[in-house]
Amino acid sequence: MEQNDLIYKPTHSKILEDGSFTWKAPSNIALIKYWGKREPQLPENASISFTLDACSTLTTINFSKGLPNENIDFDIYFEDEKKDDFKPKIEKFFERIKQYVPYISDYNFVIKTRNTFPHSSGIASSASGMAALTLCILSMEKALNPDISDELFYKKASFLARLGSGSAARSIEGPLVVWGEHHKIENSSDLFGIKFSGTVHENFKNYHDTILLVDKGEKQVSSTVGHNLMNNHSFAQQRFVQANENMIKISETLKTGDLKSFISIVESEALTLHSMMMTSHPYFILMKPNTLEIINKIWAFREKTNSNICFTLDAGANVHILFPEKEKESVNDFIISELIQFCQNNHYICDRVGFGARQIQ
Ligand code: DP6
Repeated sequence: MEQNDLIYKPTHSKILEDGSFTWKAPSNIALIKYWGKREPQLPENASISFTLDACSTLTTINFSKGLPNENIDFDIYFEDEKKDDFKPKIEKFFERIKQYVPYISDYNFVIKTRNTFPHSSGIASSASGMAALTLCILSMEKALNPDISDELFYKKASFLARLGSGSAARSIEGPLVVWGEHHKIENSSDLFGIKFSGTVHENFKNYHDTILLVDKGEKQVSSTVGHNLMNNHSFAQQRFVQANENMIKISETLKTGDLKSFISIVESEALTLHSMMMTSHPYFILMKPNTLEIINKIWAFREKTNSNICFTLDAGANVHILFPEKEKESVNDFIISELIQFCQNNHYICDRVGFGARQIQ
């Protein structure tokens, strides 16, 4: 598929004066990490993530026809409050996607958005947020051109969401999404995410992700600054090769159900991501003492009980604890008795693998 195939071409005379659409899009947690990108928002290596279920963004757009405008006219509300400081990011997003969805220039928008996870939880909402907004816009396209196939709809959604935030490309479908071209993964592309089409063992069905909120503050390093750290990084090229090798290893593991191998790939990916930040210029340590306390407790628990619990991290101090459905009782007991003491105000979120975004209205 070429990028030009994703440009909207009016094929119908449908008229859309005004209306509204609502979508709920999930967050995702990368098993193999995307860290390092080039223009326009293309990943330096392939990545794969579990789509989440509970952590999501609910977005409604109200649109009405206005005078065609160079700059798209919109207001944005977050949790019922007008948020002008969110505008620059969305303006940039509209600017990037306009050539593929030219009809947006004919409308004025009111965007209302909220997250299902608590405000200031330190959980990035850009993936779910950009995915939900994109899907609302694409619902307009579907109204203008009802013949658009589901396949093209979801591909284009991922393609556009990527232009808002790279990881948003993985927040459209589920339960496992690959983003980034990989010679061993058929149909994989730098332009959009695809559903992982390999065999997935029973062990990974309904996998759990409990998110321990170690630090609920603003991100210390924005994702743009973070990805830029990989430009001219001494280890960057090797890291991109390693990530692509890990993609092959994890595909095999997902097929065989080998949980020990899954653990070693996933934890190594998390620590490698943080090592990249520690060895860049400028350098950062995004883990907090409690992040390490949690990791050590997880390792001790695994040693003692032979559990298949493991952790992963994104670009911050919070810890995602991954575990299979059949261990949910024992791991929940362990989390409550030994880990939540390391969370800010004892806060944590229980989530699990989900199946992608849903249209609400
Ligand atoms: C560490 O998608 O937030 O979570 O493309 O600049 O918006 P932008 O970055 P973003 O980066 C996510 C990085 C990560 C790893 C991952 O999700 O793969």
